[in-house]
Amino acid sequence: MAFPKGFLWGGAVAANQLEGAYLEDGKGLSCADMLKGGNVKTPRMFSPEIEEGVYYPSHQAIDFYHHYKEDIALFGEMGFKCFRLSINWARIYPNGDDAVPNEKGLEFYDHVFDECKKHGIEPLVTLSHYEIPWAIVTKYGGFASREVIDLFVRYAETCFRRYKNKVKYWLTFNEINCALMPGGGAYNGVGTVCKEDLENKTPRPVDKLIDDPQTRFEALHNEFVASAKTVIIGHAINPDFKIGLMIAHLTLYPLTPDPKDLLTCQKQYNEMNNYCGDVMVRGEYPRFAKSFAKASGVKDTSFMDNEEDKEILKKGVVDMYTFSYYMTNCVTTHESDLTGGNLFMGVKNPYLEASPWGWQIDPLGLRYTLNELADRYPDTPLMVVENGLGMIDKREADGSVHDDYRINYLRDHIKAMKAAVEEDNVNLIGYTTWGPIDLVSAGTGEMYKRYGFIYVDRNDDGTGDFSRSRKDSFFWYKKCIESNGEDLD
Ligand code: BG6
Repeated sequence: MAFPKGFLWGGAVAANQLEGAYLEDGKGLSCADMLKGGNVKTPRMFSPEIEEGVYYPSHQAIDFYHHYKEDIALFGEMGFKCFRLSINWARIYPNGDDAVPNEKGLEFYDHVFDECKKHGIEPLVTLSHYEIPWAIVTKYGGFASREVIDLFVRYAETCFRRYKNKVKYWLTFNEINCALMPGGGAYNGVGTVCKEDLENKTPRPVDKLIDDPQTRFEALHNEFVASAKTVIIGHAINPDFKIGLMIAHLTLYPLTPDPKDLLTCQKQYNEMNNYCGDVMVRGEYPRFAKSFAKASGVKDTSFMDNEEDKEILKKGVVDMYTFSYYMTNCVTTHESDLTGGNLFMGVKNPYLEASPWGWQIDPLGLRYTLNELADRYPDTPLMVVENGLGMIDKREADGSVHDDYRINYLRDHIKAMKAAVEEDNVNLIGYTTWGPIDLVSAGTGEMYKRYGFIYVDRNDDGTGDFSRSRKDSFFWYKKCIESNGEDLD
């Protein structure tokens, strides 16, 4: 068998994209609750306060909060070994800086983890998946403030102590490298709104968020420190914890053999992937960090030289490298066509097909990526914690969904992982597909873009009764897991 015994097969979700119940049982608002719905043409808008009668996808999402038993039973039926989910920080500390945690919020995740256990599923918990309490955004400006480091660490510690016998695998921040993109600080609470927005209550489109590179890079540095402190505390609470980083891996190819393309590609690849990876796995900024920051508009890089922080980063290196992989892009210095992508637009690759959202499908690129990562971080286990195909599904009158396109996509990616493990000797410990159950799209806020093995009757116009049904891919993935990745027909 190619995949090792105990390989963590499963699926991955994020609290704000599936839980709903956005103000139930004492939960506070999170930044995701302020995001309106959009679509591939219309960007989502951040609103400084909730507007009556407007659709905010996270408010009800797919109502996992009230359906978790049924949903986890379906994951159990598919044979999941692992369920990646996130804890909503604002359920635990509604304002982020409350004196005591919200017991009801803590209880909810107790129930979820107990349910996982009942079905033999290992939880993998992201502490912050594109989410931060809204009060931290308005009061502190998110991670731009160093005070937020300690607020996060306290929240993480609360979770570690509470769930230390229920959860072994943890991730600190989802796709932490998205903070490198202009406007990408939004999810750590930076640049989402400004004082005027708050005063005038003006919504701001996500593609027009305020971007100050100095603040954004420093906020990312603060996240690195928060993550490292969290790793240190986590290991002290339970030495068996495995705590990882999570990166949106952006694999890039030079479009032409022009050496200028190759150099530009290498540079961008390093910046987007290894800037964060090196700090969190090796415990120090890479050699190109300062020139990259300066070229991005950062004037003062002295935050990278803070001696106390440097020590923390060294001590708090992660136990595993996890990443999302959906697509690849090209890089060129010549004229080219652009295509969409997970967070990043990119140059079109003439050899690849793309999804209706422009994400280029590249299973072989996953094998390449795994090899690159295994060479750069040879002592760190790897895990693919997001991969999948967002598509428009058609539900037949009998409730079935024939999603061969999804099966084909996943089969090809699993084959690529298999080759990486079997032939290239890559240390890969697990694979969780994105959105095993249909959920709200992070990028567009749509339900129309579906990833699931399980169909959820919920639509963008607010219709649907939240009922769940099995797609063809449900039965296919079940067989795949049962055979430890051998039976992919
Ligand atoms: C990743 C995120 O970027 O991609 C998920 O971690 C997100 O939260 C996923 O849902 C797929 O993106 P989208 O925009 O299709 O939901």
